[in-house]
Amino acid sequence: MTPEHETASPASPAEASLDVATLERPLFANYGRSPIAFERGEGARLFAVGGKVYLDFLAGIATSSLGHAHPRLVRAIQDQAARVLHVSNLFQIPEQSEAARRLCAATKGQFQRAFFCNSGAEAIEATLKLARLWGHDSGRTKIVSAEHAFHGRTFGALAATGTPAYKIGFEPLPGGFEHVPFGDLAALASVVDGETCAVLLEAVQGEGGVLPADPEYLAAVQVLCKERGVLFILDEIQTGIGRLGEMYGFQHYGIQPDAIALAKGLGGGVPVGAVLAKDELAAKLVPGKHGTTFGGNPLAMSAVIAVQQTLVEDGVLANVPVRSARLRAGLEQIAAETDGVRGVRGEGLMLALLLEDSLKAADLAQACFACGLLVNAVRPHAIRLLPPLILTDADVDEGLSLLREALASATAQPACGVSDE
Ligand SMILES: Cc1ncc(COP(=O)(O)O)c(C=O)c1O
Repeated sequence: MTPEHETASPASPAEASLDVATLERPLFANYGRSPIAFERGEGARLFAVGGKVYLDFLAGIATSSLGHAHPRLVRAIQDQAARVLHVSNLFQIPEQSEAARRLCAATKGQFQRAFFCNSGAEAIEATLKLARLWGHDSGRTKIVSAEHAFHGRTFGALAATGTPAYKIGFEPLPGGFEHVPFGDLAALASVVDGETCAVLLEAVQGEGGVLPADPEYLAAVQVLCKERGVLFILDEIQTGIGRLGEMYGFQHYGIQPDAIALAKGLGGGVPVGAVLAKDELAAKLVPGKHGTTFGGNPLAMSAVIAVQQTLVEDGVLANVPVRSARLRAGLEQIAAETDGVRGVRGEGLMLALLLEDSLKAADLAQACFACGLLVNAVRPHAIRLLPPLILTDADVDEGLSLLREALASATAQPACGVSDE
């Protein structure tokens, strides 16, 4: 279960003064929200109602990759809003073509076409429909994905998701999906058959607990898919757009999938998703087969372009491996020195701190909030760190120091204010 299912408790007396009951009354109660609200952000920091400052090592769950209020992104959105927000896909949208051109150019020849939508789940739906269309004439309908995978909440994406808890109560889900253990090539080989149209995987399972695939496994999956005439689709919704240190996760792993799904960091916080594919595969979606009203509208596209410009031209992408190495080294040192912490895993700026059974991730996350650090309890004993890609060395060092304080307090040595005053 992800923490959105957990009930959050007050993080500090200042935050407890928020009138949470009034805030939540008009809303569906489908999220377990912390009693913190933010007034504004700047770079890697968020400023809460009541004045508390947080270092944001969560970035809206890998979304606010340029941090908060990035001048280039703000300007691009403002300028676009003043020109035209939305026109519909009944017309040419030059901003959409420019965003697609940039995203495809960054694949260095792997993909030539982009389809735009509004979220990760929608990007996955598009890949599933593409796979079904592609296999239709040869009777290939089965889609194989991994146990513990998370692909989204819509029906198709939910059927592909490999964690049963997300599915309870929504049955019957669409058929034609099979799940195999993540990383087990033999298991995959045993189910990919003449009825299979696609294998769908995350290179690093995000919601599953920040579980990176072995590069050899992904390379072998690619070979298997090619040999058996099956599409290899990578869900890059969390790993894409610089998170692992290359523009795309498939480049970090040195593999060549047939299509990828993107969202999260793609618009730096503006809701947008995309599928990138080769010409031949993209050609399956002829007019009338798929579409979305908002997908690729000028506002979202201005954000995609600004994020791409900032990552490439301002050197933010090149920053990621450097900051990742510094953060990882610090986390490994913490793990070596701290009772209750047993290790670190992940890739790039998608990392998890693994805890012993004696220390609950939810408790440590609360202690982090109290110390002014935003993180996420992704598993009962794993804390996830997804800082913005614009992170500085000083931010890394401050985050590590706040984490140490939070650990001291969560393991009951008095530190920075989670005690019962
Ligand atoms: C790997 C992956 N795929 C798909 C999704 C669904 O994206 P969205 O919440 O934008 O629908 C997520 C969201 O966490 C994700 O991490």
